[in-house]
Amino acid sequence: MKKTRVAVIGAGPAGLLLAHLLHREGISVVVLEAKSRAYLETSPHRIRAGVMEWGTREIMVQVGLGEGLLRNGYEHRGIYLAYAGELHRIDFPSLAQGWRIWVYGQQYQVRDMIARFLEEGGKIFFEYEVVGLADLETTPKIRFRTPEGEEGELEAEFVVGADGSHSRTRGFIPGLVLKEKTYPFAWLGILAETAPAAEELIYASHPRGFALFSMRSPTLARNYLQVRPDENLDEWPEERIWEELNLRLGGVAQVKPGPLLEKSLTPHRAYVAEPMQHGRLFLVGDAAHVVPPTGAKGMNLAVADAVALFQALWAFYRKGAESGLKRHTETCREHVWQGEFFSYWMTSLLHTQPDPFIEGLRQAELKQVLTSEALKRFLAENYTGRHTTGRWVGLWT
Ligand code: PHB
Repeated sequence: MKKTRVAVIGAGPAGLLLAHLLHREGISVVVLEAKSRAYLETSPHRIRAGVMEWGTREIMVQVGLGEGLLRNGYEHRGIYLAYAGELHRIDFPSLAQGWRIWVYGQQYQVRDMIARFLEEGGKIFFEYEVVGLADLETTPKIRFRTPEGEEGELEAEFVVGADGSHSRTRGFIPGLVLKEKTYPFAWLGILAETAPAAEELIYASHPRGFALFSMRSPTLARNYLQVRPDENLDEWPEERIWEELNLRLGGVAQVKPGPLLEKSLTPHRAYVAEPMQHGRLFLVGDAAHVVPPTGAKGMNLAVADAVALFQALWAFYRKGAESGLKRHTETCREHVWQGEFFSYWMTSLLHTQPDPFIEGLRQAELKQVLTSEALKRFLAENYTGRHTTGRWVGLWT
């Protein structure tokens, strides 16, 4: 491992999809991942959202990464909003030109992509830590440390920073600005062996706080409670969690307690890093932006970035065109800000707000959403991904 065309740092959704796309075009690519394969595939700390936009599902299937999701995922044609003791359904196909969503856990998709990439002869170096980058404007060099503690150097034509929200590669972009927002909420999340509250997701707005009822399968429920960012998880024994989940459902459905497989706290925050490139270094996915989890846009934005950068690299290698690479930040900021906007909107719409005036506005807005065809359409179009991966669907058809 001395030279490659493209070096991808990080084996998450963005890095793996980009690596797969390049590899199948015969453009040499090496993936360096700081964590072990087992950690990526099984660590409960990596449990992420489980909703794919229709575009994400289509892209994965079209490029040969859809086997697992088609076998073990679920099509959902809508979601429910619960408010004031009533369930309101948002019907995606009728509101969003036939689009819908696909329920499949992000870490399952990561596992599938790792397996597929390796089967196809792709190279991923696990537990390789990147310790430095140099010559990013000419011939990039990546200094790394192997699991045995030896240092080495890889030369590449391009470096892709796909190293997540704690990205170190981001630090190599001079003048980078993080446009940031913190939210006054966190989610207490559980994964439990029990039937989901309903056959589709329920987003419940309740005076006690927001709650989300999601799933991984008909026997695996994934539920969340709005809590304070500094909430102490020790104060949430299992019985209290189940009781609170049922209270916040407000009588529209019931969850039956089941064994907890995991319990976690996710503070809400958002940022966009700009620019997302310098010389021959390009950022994709969480390294460049994060969203709060409401609306499950994180992986979908990572996919949109990866496809955008793939197109630019493809045009460079096949046609000698540099314009796509030069415009990487501009191209991505379109879908990234659309994703940030929708995540912000849905988060603000559904979470109980600490400021009583804002809380009054929020409930007025929610009542409009529940009764306005136009606002339901807005929600459905954004949720299913019209402005995010929807941009890139059809490239491979
Ligand atoms: C999840 O299933 O984990 C999930 C679903 C929808 C969201 C966020 C998380 O908006």
